[in-house]
Amino acid sequence: MCGIVGYVGYRDCSDVLVKALSKLEYRGYDSAGIAVFDEGKIKVVKSKGRLADLEKKMLKQGALKGTAGIGHTRWATHGEPSDRNSHPHSGARVTIVHNGIIENYREIKEYLQRHDVKFISDTDTEVVAQLLDYNYNGDPLATIVKTVEKLEGSFALGIVFADFQDTVYAIRRESPLIVGVGKDENFIASDVPAILKYTKDYYLLEHDEIAVLSKTGVEIFDINLEKIEKELKTADWDMDAAEKGGYEHFMIKEIHEQPTAIKTTINPRIQNGLPDLTECGITIDTLREFKQIFVVACGTAMHAGMVGKYTIESLARVPVIVDIASEFRYRQPLVGEGDLVIIISQSGETADSLAAMRLAKKLGAKTLAIVNAKGSSIAREADMLIYTHAGPEIAVASTKAYTVQVAVMYLFAFLLAFAKGTIDEDECKRLTKLLSDTPKIIEKSLDKTKKITQFVSTKLIACDSLMYIGRGLDYALSMEGSLKLKEISYIHSESYAAGELKHGTISLITDGMPVIAVATQPHLFEKTISNIKEVKARGAKTIVICTDGFNVTDDVADYIITVPKTDDILMPLLAAIPMQLIAYYTSVNKGNDVDKPRNLAKSVTVE
Ligand code: G6P
Repeated sequence: MCGIVGYVGYRDCSDVLVKALSKLEYRGYDSAGIAVFDEGKIKVVKSKGRLADLEKKMLKQGALKGTAGIGHTRWATHGEPSDRNSHPHSGARVTIVHNGIIENYREIKEYLQRHDVKFISDTDTEVVAQLLDYNYNGDPLATIVKTVEKLEGSFALGIVFADFQDTVYAIRRESPLIVGVGKDENFIASDVPAILKYTKDYYLLEHDEIAVLSKTGVEIFDINLEKIEKELKTADWDMDAAEKGGYEHFMIKEIHEQPTAIKTTINPRIQNGLPDLTECGITIDTLREFKQIFVVACGTAMHAGMVGKYTIESLARVPVIVDIASEFRYRQPLVGEGDLVIIISQSGETADSLAAMRLAKKLGAKTLAIVNAKGSSIAREADMLIYTHAGPEIAVASTKAYTVQVAVMYLFAFLLAFAKGTIDEDECKRLTKLLSDTPKIIEKSLDKTKKITQFVSTKLIACDSLMYIGRGLDYALSMEGSLKLKEISYIHSESYAAGELKHGTISLITDGMPVIAVATQPHLFEKTISNIKEVKARGAKTIVICTDGFNVTDDVADYIITVPKTDDILMPLLAAIPMQLIAYYTSVNKGNDVDKPRNLAKSVTVE
């Protein structure tokens, strides 16, 4: 993970670096640091903790003055979060920031130690800094090439050489990196929001491409040091998308952005009332060929895949296996020709999801990526691609990225079912129309459930542990509800298939323990109610999230949260809203850092 930035131009570099890093804090935030050419020397300031701690340190020590430098915000992998392990890391004549993991760093470290190189941190990054210094021959580009030839793993590097003032070098392999292009100023960054304040124009660096940035220009070379011309891209996000816009947290802002995000994602993919994914490389004929589908993803994206599984299997009658990417890649999956592997990823850079996709391709399956970040590795390498248009999601806890992934899974399922002939055109049109109506209903669901979720959250803050239960699609959704709550409230939570509870887990129910039950599916309603009664009889405090008009009596539910009605199959999109709000308000009420929960990072580019 980690976020890296670099700047060369005419502005106060420290200020630009800190502002740019503040847009990348979602990538990690246990320490931060910058290096700036200050009066001809590379000077470094770094600190354990948030960017705010770095800023305090800079105020105390006196800011670094200069117009070129690099910066970093860290999610620790090698070595605990500490000043010593924070980036930038330096050799005698070179200083770097790094996102990624150097897998063979031990070997290189031992080699350098045998040549009397001394190390002060526990990081893999310092090894790269020292190797660059060891290989340095006065020619930065040749030094970089010689160094990266020895590296195994993933990296995006921002590099400054003491002898080459006001020049920033960058190279990437696997980890993402863009080069922002302004007027008399240029940037590097791990992600687009970091540069939006200054420019929307950028190059996307490919594997092993090297960028050289000066105030007046950017040059890009391949690994053979041949100069290459690249297409200049323009970001379609504006600055407001990366700001809180009057909301207290990014998370609540992003929860409110869901109706628009779904509209923007779905509407352009509907033609004459039917889903149309031809622009994404998916036609009715291609869909007919698939005999089996795998959905491979991590975290929230995997939960969106669970909703997809229930929907595809019930509508299109095609078997769907949902796999956690880190499991899929090492379990010798039975995937091959004729199979479709769908990779869902907000960032498009999650290491396990990317590796799983590459494996699926190698095994002969066709791959379809559902990705939010434009130009990301997963987006570029997939055979077929559906972009979700959620805009930048900054809060670590995913909300709008989840609901747009779910919306895309619906669109895909409807089209697949139509292609397979398991639903006719009229039914496909009916479902598609209802899907396109959900943004309006989500708005209603937001209004309707705000107060009650706020209230319910006050009942949760004191508990140590709770449980989410549901059946079918409600179970798929409760997995996400449970994850959302635990990641930002730090309350232990499990999601369980309601019918499975009695086979062991019910022993955890104690007097007063909250159980959040989702019951939006009419054909499963009575069964779920029986399961709720089972936990209630054992002392649980029950919170029932159900569809408007369902008859839930007070002897079943301590608190009832109702959501507006649509087709049963689409209910997860609506019931997701109170789930997200419960997690949000519980975190707020506990005084937690909602947008940056402890130990987490948004983009996980390590295994
Ligand atoms: C991290 C984030 C999760 C996210 C998961 C997958 O763990 O904290 O919110 O769901 O990665 O990320 P992706 O970018 O692949 O959707």
